[in-house]
Amino acid sequence: MRVLAIAGSLRRGSYNRRLLDDAARLAPAGVLVEVWEGLRDLPHFDQDAEGESPAAVARLRDALRGADALLVATPEYNSSLPGVLKNALDWASRPPGSSALRGLPVAVVSASTSRFGGVWAAQEVRKVLGASGARVVDAQMALPQAHEGFDEQGRLRSAELAARLRAVLDALAADAAEEAAAA
Ligand code: FNR
Repeated sequence: MRVLAIAGSLRRGSYNRRLLDDAARLAPAGVLVEVWEGLRDLPHFDQDAEGESPAAVARLRDALRGADALLVATPEYNSSLPGVLKNALDWASRPPGSSALRGLPVAVVSASTSRFGGVWAAQEVRKVLGASGARVVDAQMALPQAHEGFDEQGRLRSAELAARLRAVLDALAADAAEEAAAA
């Protein structure tokens, strides 16, 4: 089972990116988590161009269509999701009737340097994904004080949060298996 993973940050050393790297390590047997690197290449969403599929957008749509599930790790900017992530989700959701997110099992996690861990951003990402036709799983995980959250190997320091991240992956894999069986 292939899980595409998107971190909503362009920052070198992004904690959300680290969270996805640790998710790849924690994934259950048979689940391959592949981090998508194309966020920086996406143009601004332009409704005039949505039918033309700029190359970077086509790569995003192809990556989503080739995946069994999607894992999003979102930072929180001013109590919401970063514009670069919203931009990617808007591209993926169009044109109408051919959203690459439709029916795709998705889980959302978050990391932030505050003590709340980006829960408001995660909530907004879940809303956007739901509006785009994705199957958003209930399981969630948020990493607060992310600047202290990882050890030298990039692993989550908290065993409890690592278990929660693993539970998110388990729920996502179970939903993707259910979706595949129904198809
Ligand atoms: C932040 N940050 C932040 N954190 C938070 O928990 N709630 C918030 O509303 C905000 N607002 C905010 C706005 C802007 C413009 C920036 C740049 C940052 C802090 C944020 O959590 C922190 O920079 C994370 O490290 C961003 O995630 P990455 O880049 O490490 O993945």
